[in-house]
Amino acid sequence: MMRNRLGMVMAVAVTLGAAPAFSAEQALNYAFFKTRVEPIFLKKRSDHVRCYVCHSDSNNAFKLQKLAAGSKSWNEEQSRRNFEIASQLVMPGDPANSILLLRPLAPEAGGFPYHSGGRQFANKNDPDWKILAQWVRGPKQAATPPKK
Ligand code: HEC
Repeated sequence: MMRNRLGMVMAVAVTLGAAPAFSAEQALNYAFFKTRVEPIFLKKRSDHVRCYVCHSDSNNAFKLQKLAAGSKSWNEEQSRRNFEIASQLVMPGDPANSILLLRPLAPEAGGFPYHSGGRQFANKNDPDWKILAQWVRGPKQAATPPKK
């Protein structure tokens, strides 16, 4: 009896311990990131500098790959790297605790009080902010393109 219970507790503990690493990769969809999220980093928003301009080769945690000369988008390897970096700045399933979404969001709308790159998103209704949130929430909510 006692042994059984202990065994169960151990099994649960092991499962919980393993969960974060698994779910982070499974919940965040790469195809969605590449087709919908990456273009946001390259897009010019009125009155703002593009994320890419400051965050390529930046010395903070959000560091995008440098585009090849003349190229308007990242190649596969670079996108994978961007995905890795961006994934470390979000809490899968929880946009409200994801620094990638909060830094560029206006403080009145729940964003960080300060970001050198400005208030890129005035509020959470910004269509691009919604796409970021969709990516973070995960595959169930995200209208993901079919896997290749
Ligand atoms: C004008 C330059 C500039 C632009 C444009 C810009 N940022 Fe930033 N961002 C910074 C700098 C500099 C920092 C470092 C902390 C600070 O000074 O705010 C930063 C910090 C961040 C961080 C936190 C990184 C860390 O180390 O914790 C995130 C996430 C971020 N920015 C996301 C974005 C996103 C997303 C966009 C586009 C929607 C964007 N930024 C546009 C300059 C910029």
